Amino acid sequence: MIIAGNFKTHHTRSSTLKFCRELDRYLSSKKDKEVTIFPTLSSLPYNDFAHLKIGAQNAYGAKNGAYSGEVGADQLLELGIKTLLIGHSERRGIFKESNQLVRKKFEFYSNEGFEIFFCIGEDLPTYQSGKTKEFLFSQLDRIDLEYPKLIIAYEPIWAIGSGESAGLEQIEEIHSFLREIGVKTSVYGGSVKPSNAQDIMNLKSVDGVLVGGASLELESFCSIIG
Ligand code: 13P
Repeated sequence: MIIAGNFKTHHTRSSTLKFCRELDRYLSSKKDKEVTIFPTLSSLPYNDFAHLKIGAQNAYGAKNGAYSGEVGADQLLELGIKTLLIGHSERRGIFKESNQLVRKKFEFYSNEGFEIFFCIGEDLPTYQSGKTKEFLFSQLDRIDLEYPKLIIAYEPIWAIGSGESAGLEQIEEIHSFLREIGVKTSVYGGSVKPSNAQDIMNLKSVDGVLVGGASLELESFCSIIG
């Protein structure tokens, strides 16, 4: 089971390190859990924990260069980081990342052999108009679904940070649709918390969860891990 925590712009360098060390200790007795933490870029520790992986929430599709405010592959690889979140709805929405830019990042980092959590998800009007599947399909346009280290993260925008996850039926329906179009591995994100995580992870077509708010406190994240 894949369980990932996206810290977004929370935690500092020291609190991230403390969290990861304690989580690593907790995970030493856990089997079958593939845990990844995505800290803020300035808090990225070395990816050298025994039982968890460190990933980056974003990176530019280049090894290095004149891209002020961005990090590239060289900076991530120096820290031993080979896991990346691409296309989070906050990147797409607030920072205006287009499908084209997101795809370029995917192409660059898949060529570099990174494990990629590729985020997709519809907004409320799209959901309400019943056009979710078409929309998700368009977000995956020209993404190589055969890439073996690809994890699709389905995060409906209307469920992120709202306290209310999508319904179990909706989550299963979308993930089984993703299987039908060739996705091999997919996780759900959007108000995952200790009280609903197990039910979501028990769904047939779901391989794990991507957790925002409920990953910030160690106790809450550990109770999601189980
Ligand atoms: P929340 O769990 O806070 O809804 O955030 C989900 C998310 O965006 C993870 O990437």
